[in-house]
Amino acid sequence: MEKKVLLLGSTGKVGTACAEIFKEGYVLVGKNSQDFDAVNFDQVRTLLELEKPDIVINTVAFLGIDPSEKKPVKAFQLNALYPQLLAQLSAELGFVLVHFSTDGVFDDQKNDFYVESDMPRPLNVYGATKYCGDCFIQSLAKEYYVFRIPTLFGESPKNDQFVEKMFQKIQDGASTLRIAGDVISSPSYSKDIAARVCQVIETNQPWGIYHVANEGKTSLYELMQEIVKNLGMDVVIEKASFNDFPYVARKNTNTPITSEKLEPMRPWTDAVKDYCDSLKILKSVK
Ligand SMILES: NC(=O)c1ccc[n+]([C@@H]2O[C@H](COP(=O)([O-])OP(=O)(O)OC[C@H]3O[C@@H](n4cnc5c(N)ncnc54)[C@H](OP(=O)(O)O)[C@@H]3O)[C@@H](O)[C@H]2O)c1
Repeated sequence: MEKKVLLLGSTGKVGTACAEIFKEGYVLVGKNSQDFDAVNFDQVRTLLELEKPDIVINTVAFLGIDPSEKKPVKAFQLNALYPQLLAQLSAELGFVLVHFSTDGVFDDQKNDFYVESDMPRPLNVYGATKYCGDCFIQSLAKEYYVFRIPTLFGESPKNDQFVEKMFQKIQDGASTLRIAGDVISSPSYSKDIAARVCQVIETNQPWGIYHVANEGKTSLYELMQEIVKNLGMDVVIEKASFNDFPYVARKNTNTPITSEKLEPMRPWTDAVKDYCDSLKILKSVK
């Protein structure tokens, strides 16, 4: 019998990619903020008791370093207390909990890729609340996967993340984009992340924390250069520093990740090519 997957946050960047992968071979039920409020814990419990899933994939979170610093209570509720509840319900109701965390739990100090056994040392409220969520899941859930993922590119109905914001500027007429060359991560394609998550589940990897990212590391500046080049856009990308832009919280500036448990994924540059090809197809269909 096909397993039932309850995808919480089905309309976000990771949710969109997971919905695509898990629609085959599973009974997939997707929910977003129209269907429930993740900080209403009675609602969350009722939803889980009604749906009786075999697997819960949670992508719901309070995103962003500055937004979390400005609204620490909301960030703590969604990134720490809500995963705590999911972990308790996972043990109580007997579903596998799949949850997403971030490279932002690390502290920029390692001159190499962060692996699963590296100790998180968050620099800001976002990193601290996400790490707190990871800890609750490790302590309270029995059958779980926590996937730490980096800055993403990928199809999404939303316009509020880095790459989409840059596209918006271009659409609004910008011919030059100034982008930080000193924020380094392992940018990754949401579709590759979802495929790897599915593979980990289907190959019954041991429960625990996994780093999932395309191979390599680069700056936001180089990432956007690669995207613009692949899309053939007539836009100049200028190298700037994160210090040139206003910010509230201490930023993460050097958090490339890789896995010491799983095979490497394809390089981020190959993934960018596929992402851009898929955008071109979407545009030609519209
Ligand atoms: N995107 C990245 O670059 C990145 C990097 C590192 C880690 N991550 C982690 O990856 C996970 C997924 O991120 P994402 O980029 O897919 O996020 P996203 O695009 O912002 O999607 C968030 C999803 O959660 C839903 N949601 C938000 N608040 C909710 C609430 N209070 N109650 C119920 N649903 C709610 C949204 O529904 P609506 O559409 O209805 O609003 C949406 O479906 C998060 O844990 C994040 O920390 C992401």
